[in-house]
Amino acid sequence: MNVSVKDNKEITFSCDVVILPLLEHQGVRPYRDIDKVLDGLLGKTISSREFSGRLGDMSLLHTQGRIKPERVLLAGLGKKEDVTPEMLRQAGGKAASYLRALGIRYAALSTRTIEPLHISPVVFLEGCLLSAYRFEKYRKEEDHKGLKRITVLSRKDIGTQIKWIEAAAKATYLARDLVNTPSNDMTPSGLVRAARSLKKVSVKVIDRKQAEALGMGAYISVAKGSMEPPKFIVIAYKGKNVRPVALIGKAITFDSGGISLKPSEGMEKMKYDMAGGAAVLGVMKAVAEMNLPVHLLAVLPATENLPGGSASKPGDVVRTLEGRTIEIISTDAEGRLALADAIGYVKKFKPAAIIDIATLTGACSIAFGNEAIAMMGNDDSLMAKLKKASEETAERVWQMPLFDEYREYIKSDIADLKNSGGRSGSLVSSGYFLKEFAGDVPWVHLDIAGTAWTDKDRPYIPKGATGIGVRLLMNFLKNL
Ligand code: BES
Ligand code: MN
Ligand code: ZN
Repeated sequence: MNVSVKDNKEITFSCDVVILPLLEHQGVRPYRDIDKVLDGLLGKTISSREFSGRLGDMSLLHTQGRIKPERVLLAGLGKKEDVTPEMLRQAGGKAASYLRALGIRYAALSTRTIEPLHISPVVFLEGCLLSAYRFEKYRKEEDHKGLKRITVLSRKDIGTQIKWIEAAAKATYLARDLVNTPSNDMTPSGLVRAARSLKKVSVKVIDRKQAEALGMGAYISVAKGSMEPPKFIVIAYKGKNVRPVALIGKAITFDSGGISLKPSEGMEKMKYDMAGGAAVLGVMKAVAEMNLPVHLLAVLPATENLPGGSASKPGDVVRTLEGRTIEIISTDAEGRLALADAIGYVKKFKPAAIIDIATLTGACSIAFGNEAIAMMGNDDSLMAKLKKASEETAERVWQMPLFDEYREYIKSDIADLKNSGGRSGSLVSSGYFLKEFAGDVPWVHLDIAGTAWTDKDRPYIPKGATGIGVRLLMNFLKNL
């Protein structure tokens, strides 16, 4: 989708449709001049109550050659006192989906009602862009519908903001593609290919043998049941000469549970257990494209978790990179094993902060459904920064506590730690497990198990992989 800005009047701008956003109870007032040329068509649609202005409400009207746009789309924004950037984003997503279904190609967006709200019209566009995603690579016939061009009618200088949301949308698309791609194609080696296709970053890959030699016994124990070669992927981006921020993405390309096998119902969705890694790749792409002045060290400890003949077994004890031992209670609590070694690895580079993003626990999705990322960490100021980015992007985070008492949950009878504290409190005891490895480095853990996948279409997220975390981390890094 091509996005541009033009200082132009609605009635003289040639396009398939001009979108006229309207608040509830606003009436035709903001568009009186247009209504006049249209012989009162807008006013009539509103007074007849065919259009109410509620969020997502829409009316499409043909202009019969009276003005340059062939159609107008009245698009509801909700009540003035309730409007937030997120509502505008959702309105954008809904408008674009509506126009897509009708096969409409070229839209213009009027900003008259948006600009007085002191919200950037660019968030509406962001909704349009994010909602236009489709995953079609496995279909014979592609769906070529959807908006091809959108022009914002404004005299404001919003070019930089547009560049940002375009980069964010492209990076989100990349993350969604990687996650939607089934695990037979999106293997650890597939993630390596995705990493190597990024520009302005350097990529290093540690294979099974090297990881063993380095002492990443926890990470490698997850890979033992699979024939698919594990790949510990390290990506660096240096936009500034400072201590790096480390981004770690869980990258289990398929999580069968291993010997602690998962139930078969819904297991096909476990291809999304690399969504944290996909988000990190998306962030690296966008950050490099935008030349952000930050230093990033990204790590994806990629592997499958399968129950092969040489797989790890419950009761096995493994040794981490830093030397501590872990008793494997459940081979299905594999994410924290891989992450423990990833955290150990990045600590050698003296990072200023570590952020891990992972589909870590079913309990996260039980607690929040699709609506929030569970956030835990050892540094309040780092968490406050993520909270701020979360408010800007509506990729919501919600903080969970890491009480010292949770240490008891992961005490092992024979090793330094165990990888599962059982069902009770598992969202937080998993976070606590990671905290043990972060030590005194400022660290935040983001559990995206509930938000990385959606079973139903959302206003600007088609069903399937959501690409969650990309915009959150992009904004966090931009604000640094
Ligand atoms: N990848 C899963 C968590 C998950 C579940 C993500 C559902 C998305 C949807 C993780 O590896 C896992 O299996 N966790 C276990 C941990 C338990 C064995 C302590 C869980 O949450 O059930
Ligand atoms: Mn698992
Ligand atoms: Zn998992």
